[in-house]
Amino acid sequence: MTYENIIAEVKGNVGLITLNRPKALNALCDALIADLAAALDAFEDDESVRAIVITGSEKAFAAGADIKEMIDRDYMDVYKADFITKGWTRMAACRKPTIAAVSGFALGGGCELAMSCDIMIAADTAKFGQPEITIGTIPGAGGTQRLTRAIGKAKAMEMCLTGRMMDAQEAERSGLVARVVPVDSLMDEAMKLAEKIASFSAPVAMKVKESVNKAFEMTLAEGLMFERREFHSTFALEDRAEGMKAFGEKRKPEFKHR
Ligand code: HXC
Repeated sequence: MTYENIIAEVKGNVGLITLNRPKALNALCDALIADLAAALDAFEDDESVRAIVITGSEKAFAAGADIKEMIDRDYMDVYKADFITKGWTRMAACRKPTIAAVSGFALGGGCELAMSCDIMIAADTAKFGQPEITIGTIPGAGGTQRLTRAIGKAKAMEMCLTGRMMDAQEAERSGLVARVVPVDSLMDEAMKLAEKIASFSAPVAMKVKESVNKAFEMTLAEGLMFERREFHSTFALEDRAEGMKAFGEKRKPEFKHR
C-alpha cells in the first residue's frame, strides 16, 4: 500500500512507518494522520508484523499538528469534528508494541505522537517540546497528561507553560526516552530493538504492553490483579509451554505466536 504522506514498509517482522512531509517538517496534517491510521490498521492485520517502528526525518520527527491547516478553524469546527479523536488516537490504541525513533524536532503533536508509542529512542539531536502556548493554544493529544506522567509535574508544567524544548540528554535523564543513541545509528538501534521484541511470542508481548499501560489507568491493587490474571492467561498459550520447555532443554524456544 502506498500513501501520500508516509512511507509504510514491512522489514522482516517489523512494520516501519516513516513520516514523509519533509518540507513541512512532517507537520501532522489531517491527511497524514489518516495515512498513519490506515497503515497501523494494515500492520495490525498483518500477522507477520510483531512490532512497529515510527520515525521521521533527521531534522524532524514531527514539528506538531499542521498549524497552517488549523489557522482558520473555529471552535465549532474542532468541537463538531471532535478534532484529534479520529486518527490521532490510533497509535495509542495499537495492540502491537510500538517504538518511536526520534531525531530532530518532536514538538507539540509530534511529541504527543511519540509519547503515544510504547518506547521512545532518541537520536542525540532530538528536541522535545510542547510549544502550543506560544501559538495561543494548549496540547490537545495528550501533552499535558502523558508528559506529566513520564517526567513529573515540575518539568511538564515548565515545558507546557513556557514552550521550552528539552534536548535528548535531558529527556533520557527525565524518563521520557528509553535511550539516546548517535543520530547515525538511530534507525539501526530502533530496528534492532523492534526485531528483538518481534522475536518473542506476539501474544505475550501484547500482554506485557497492555499490563504496563494499565499502570497509568488503574490503582495499584487493580493493576496488580490485572497483571496476575494476564500472567495466569499465559499458561493457556503454546508459547508459554514452549518457552519453559526450551529453557529446561537448554535450547532456544521456537515461538508459534499462539
Ligand atoms: C505547519 C510547519 C510546522 C507546523 C514547521 N512548518 N512546523 N507547518 N505546521 N507545525 C513549516 C514551516 O512553516 C516552514 O514552511 C517549514 O516547515 C520549515 O520550517 P521553519 O520554521 O522554516 O524551520 P526552522 O527555522 O528550522 O524552525 C523549525 C521549528 C519551527 C522550530 C520546528 O518550524 C517551529 O517552531 N514550528 C512550529 C512548532 C509548533 O509550534 N508546534 C506545535 C503546533 S500545535 P515554509 O513553507 O514556510 O517554508 C500542535 C497541537 C497539537 O501540535 C494538538 C493535537 C492535535
